[in-house]
Amino acid sequence: MDDVPVPVPVPVPVAVPPPLPAAVHGDDAIEAEFQNDFEGDSAYAGSSYAGSVSGSLTETLSSAVARGVEEHGRTYAAYGNEEYGLPIDEEELDRIDMSHAKYIMLLDKKLFLAPINPQPQRILDLGTGTGLWAINVADAFPSAEVLGLDIAPVQPQWVPANCRFEIDDIEQSWVFGNATFDLIHARDLLLSIRDWPKLVSQCYEHTKPGGYTELQCVLPHLHCDDGSAPPNSGLFEFSRQAQDASTILGLPLDACTRYADYMTAAGFVDVVEKRFKMPTSAWPKEKRLKLIGAFEMHNLVKGVSAMSLRMFNKAYGWSREQIEMFLTQVRKDTQNVRCKLYPNISTTCVRILMGS
Ligand SMILES: C[S@@+](CC[C@H](N)C(=O)[O-])C[C@H]1O[C@@H](n2cnc3c(N)ncnc32)[C@H](O)[C@@H]1O
Repeated sequence: MDDVPVPVPVPVPVAVPPPLPAAVHGDDAIEAEFQNDFEGDSAYAGSSYAGSVSGSLTETLSSAVARGVEEHGRTYAAYGNEEYGLPIDEEELDRIDMSHAKYIMLLDKKLFLAPINPQPQRILDLGTGTGLWAINVADAFPSAEVLGLDIAPVQPQWVPANCRFEIDDIEQSWVFGNATFDLIHARDLLLSIRDWPKLVSQCYEHTKPGGYTELQCVLPHLHCDDGSAPPNSGLFEFSRQAQDASTILGLPLDACTRYADYMTAAGFVDVVEKRFKMPTSAWPKEKRLKLIGAFEMHNLVKGVSAMSLRMFNKAYGWSREQIEMFLTQVRKDTQNVRCKLYPNISTTCVRILMGS
């Protein structure tokens, strides 16, 4: 496949387009614009969500969503069907922010690879998390209104004027007009989506002719090119168990290996998939990859519980103690820089033909 030309952010002052309609499905969507009432709650420190809106039902709903659901000593999202497998607490938000920095390094300081029109009008980020990607894109493209959607109200309050967040479940039907966005982006929707073909079809319907959808994700398979990691390494075992458990839950971690197929079936053209090696620790000699590996090691050591607790408990019935015991070896092997392991990060970028 051909290389995708690198998008160069062009900060041209252009009239911001008229506001988008309320997000996904009308009344159920909650705009994340309220004053923060949860400053004392570390899980939502910095969140713009859950403030004063009129109507007691809305207040009850928004505070329940803001509180989240406690399980296994972690806080999970309360909005949507409560099936998202990772927590949304402060520890997890730190991990997501660090992972954002790692992606930027891996993609050579780019936020995405799609060669979009340099003066886009509307950009959508699905499962935006802490919203850093959306904020960075809004800064890089002042011509665009950037919208980030998430079930969790964990986005910051102070954002560029052309960036906003809404709380919604992207698995529901979207009510934006068709052909609305110059770019639809989603990154690391892990343990999140049960029906990828439906999600990708919605991306197709809502991408403008000539526009792009780009999906980025870490692939669940681990590689070792030189045999330095034994087959019984804790990380290999974790990768196998995580793939099986996620499949049992109907949220398979290997869905990202089928993105290109889903996108082609939906009608997109010019599929370009690129893969980048992501070392699991600081084992590479090359400076940039060494740093990426150091980030990823931290991500794994700190984040592997977040990934595991709900997933292994729901899929296998393992207790929190059993899961933590299993993870002891995973963490130990992750920190062994003699084991030259890596998964790939994949970016899959597709286009809609002009005149479609
Ligand atoms: C691993 S985080 C990735 C966040 C962000 N995309 C990034 O790469 O920094 C996945 C995000 O998807 C959100 N999410 C999961 N299921 C969702 C759904 N059905 N609708 C909207 N957001 C969802 C989660 O709340 C979480 O913030």
